[in-house]
Amino acid sequence: MMKTTLLFPTPLWEIPKVGVEKQPLLDFVKYVREEDPNGRVSSNEGGWQSWDFEEQVCDTNPLKDIKDAILRHAYAVCDEWAFKDYILKMTNLWINVNKRGDNNVVHTHPGAVLSGAYYLDVPDCCSGNITFMNTFDKIHMKEAWGCNANFNRAHHNEYNDDEYDVYPQDDTLLFFPAYLMHRVHKSSSDEERISISFNISAYSRHYYGIYPSEGNSTKNVPIQVK
Ligand SMILES: [Fe+2]
Repeated sequence: MMKTTLLFPTPLWEIPKVGVEKQPLLDFVKYVREEDPNGRVSSNEGGWQSWDFEEQVCDTNPLKDIKDAILRHAYAVCDEWAFKDYILKMTNLWINVNKRGDNNVVHTHPGAVLSGAYYLDVPDCCSGNITFMNTFDKIHMKEAWGCNANFNRAHHNEYNDDEYDVYPQDDTLLFFPAYLMHRVHKSSSDEERISISFNISAYSRHYYGIYPSEGNSTKNVPIQVK
């Protein structure tokens, strides 16, 4: 009997109906865009992207509700990921507005552990799906052999898929490991799509030897500065 083992699958978490009040956030996005019409260019080709909001700044404006909801769900995600005795910090959060023709090139979120997006306002159709990608070395194996024609696409599965598409819905939250490559397809909608992206870092409550020690006198060595 042949045994097949899937090694190191990659998690993607989707939370529908987060339940955040929409209008105060829409009003705030409008305010920020009016204050800073240029925004910044990062992974976006076209569209408008805000600069970063730090976690403590979110506490002073309407982003607080979604920031708190993101962190609450992030703890559930990291618990499932089997993190233990840790603290999460939202390192940065930013607003994206994409409309017809706008997209985001392939990228990762370096420096973070967990990243994600909250979809605040999504047109009914065609605002550009987000595609998560297998690593280039694994994609290479397939492409070198003869592209997709060599695979039975009717029976695609977890280990011959190179990409996974998510079609954004209003009030939905996505989490993914920050290292996971992804891109956002061009919008074909004349309506704007507004999303809020973020990065989260994790801090341990445990250390592998730390000064001053906690109950270990052999480590309780004062640091001398000469
Ligand atoms: Fe991203």
